[in-house]
Amino acid sequence: MTASERAPFDPHHYERLSTGTVPGYAALQEIVALAAAAEAPSSSAAVLDLGCGTGAGLVALARALPDAQLTACDPAPSMIATARARCEAAGVTTHFIVGDLSAVAADPQFDVVVCTLVLHFVPPDERGPLLAAIRARLRPGGSLVVSALGRSAEPTVQAAWTKLRRHYALSNGFAPAELVAREEQMRGDVFPIAPDELSAALRGAGFTSITPLCQLLAVHSWLARS
Ligand SMILES: C[S@@+](CC[C@H](N)C(=O)[O-])C[C@H]1O[C@@H](n2cnc3c(N)ncnc32)[C@H](O)[C@@H]1O
Repeated sequence: MTASERAPFDPHHYERLSTGTVPGYAALQEIVALAAAAEAPSSSAAVLDLGCGTGAGLVALARALPDAQLTACDPAPSMIATARARCEAAGVTTHFIVGDLSAVAADPQFDVVVCTLVLHFVPPDERGPLLAAIRARLRPGGSLVVSALGRSAEPTVQAAWTKLRRHYALSNGFAPAELVAREEQMRGDVFPIAPDELSAALRGAGFTSITPLCQLLAVHSWLARS
């Protein structure tokens, strides 16, 4: 099964979901972009947004690193179309690639890769190979900024995250039935990653200086160097 078959994203639905059900979504994009800028070896660094979705991260990256050479890939053509329109409207120049990482030449060509809210859609047995493939595209000393939905072994922690996320979605106009349907769908499509699993997978793929950057409820962000 390809990445696009596995995660068929509708850009209009996604915009509403990301801003309405992910507390701190805008802050997350800003933190990821700031981390990318801090890691960039020069103002014209080459940056890849892997799984760019509708392009919120690209606009944040361009704000933090206005002269960066931005590349973005996503297997969903409709998500790329929305990201392209968003970037054009914001005056952000980006080279777009429709496809997953296999559509991006396997050369060490990027200084920074960002991968935001994508990894939990990748089945656990494919995570290690994907992280290794990211590393193959990083220049020596290059950095990965990765954010993914986490899970806790502690039921009270998990329950607190779920309660807050539901409260946030309801306050943004989502109907209770809609939330139940969304949670049901996520149970099949999403593979949340425990923080120690993610750091072990990063280490296994050859990354070093693996640093937790921030946690927004269940979403954990990490910085790792090649
Ligand atoms: C939840 S969205 C996140 C989009 C964006 N990064 C953001 O922060 O809003 C997940 C995106 O990952 C893409 N995706 C799913 N599997 C992927 C894969 N294996 N490689 C790259 N992108 C993938 C989907 O098409 C979707 O656009």
